[in-house]
Amino acid sequence: LPSHYTLPSGDKIPSVALGVWQAGKNEVGKAVETALKAGYRHIDGAWIYRNEAEVGQALNKSGVKREDVWITSKLWNSFHAPEDIESTLDDSLAKLGTDYLDLYLIHWPVAQKSGKPYDKTLTENPYPTWQKLEEMVEKGKVRNIGVSNFNIRRLENLTANPLKIRPAVNQVEISYWVPQVELIKWAKEHDLLLEAYSPLGSTGRVGETLAVPEVKEIAQELGMTPAQVVISWHVQRGYVVLPKSVTPSRVEENVHVRALPPALFEKLETAATSHKPYPRLNPSRGWGLDFDIFD
Ligand code: A2P
Repeated sequence: LPSHYTLPSGDKIPSVALGVWQAGKNEVGKAVETALKAGYRHIDGAWIYRNEAEVGQALNKSGVKREDVWITSKLWNSFHAPEDIESTLDDSLAKLGTDYLDLYLIHWPVAQKSGKPYDKTLTENPYPTWQKLEEMVEKGKVRNIGVSNFNIRRLENLTANPLKIRPAVNQVEISYWVPQVELIKWAKEHDLLLEAYSPLGSTGRVGETLAVPEVKEIAQELGMTPAQVVISWHVQRGYVVLPKSVTPSRVEENVHVRALPPALFEKLETAATSHKPYPRLNPSRGWGLDFDIFD
């Protein structure tokens, strides 16, 4: 399996990352420390996870050189206005204890200050946001820029603008339950790398994922754990995978991926793409939006 993918900038992004969404206070630092010892060189975080300072402390005391770790952060919805971007980016950089990010993503395709109605113009066309992100690349604060939670329509909308830098990645929910076949096909055709969040089904559904009969059978046949089978399947599908864990033994387990023999890969792929559709994470209503983020 590929250990890295090459982005349009030429940078190489490690295919397996530690995801730190929902990794809490006084546990996320330990998880990062364990991950770096286990060989991870990619941490996927965000400003809104409220744990960047603890992640930064763990990174800085690990002894691993800054240039050897891939750090991703994300621009929160409240800061899409061009004049708000640099200060929130600086805040993430300060908390992480670094002077550049490897990758900075527009977290959601929604421009909305907290407690306010969303900004319709900037949500429908985030080009001004994107231009400011391009400027952050030019300034050297960020090496690569991308998006998250964008569907095909929104990707086409954004890339219809005269971009200087095209999105390097789109990070979305991809799991056994939400296999994203159409988006994966589109991304391949457009040379856009995807990143899978909630790859194990997230907190609510990880138990169900690891109990899928095909997953269990393949695990037994190959002498792998069910989580390793699922994480390997993701990388074999051709994108970055971001499993989250704060349990040291699981953090270690999750980085050991290997290719599934073609017949077993196909067996899991068929199972994942032929069950009934499952709802995915969708905060549209919770945020009081009058549209569905994924329409
Ligand atoms: P924990 O963090 O308590 O170890 P996802 O990556 O899809 O978001 O899933 C995260 C959930 O899966 C968390 O509840 C995490 O628990 C759990 N998890 C992560 N790795 C494993 C594993 N190898 N075996 C079992 N559960 C795991």
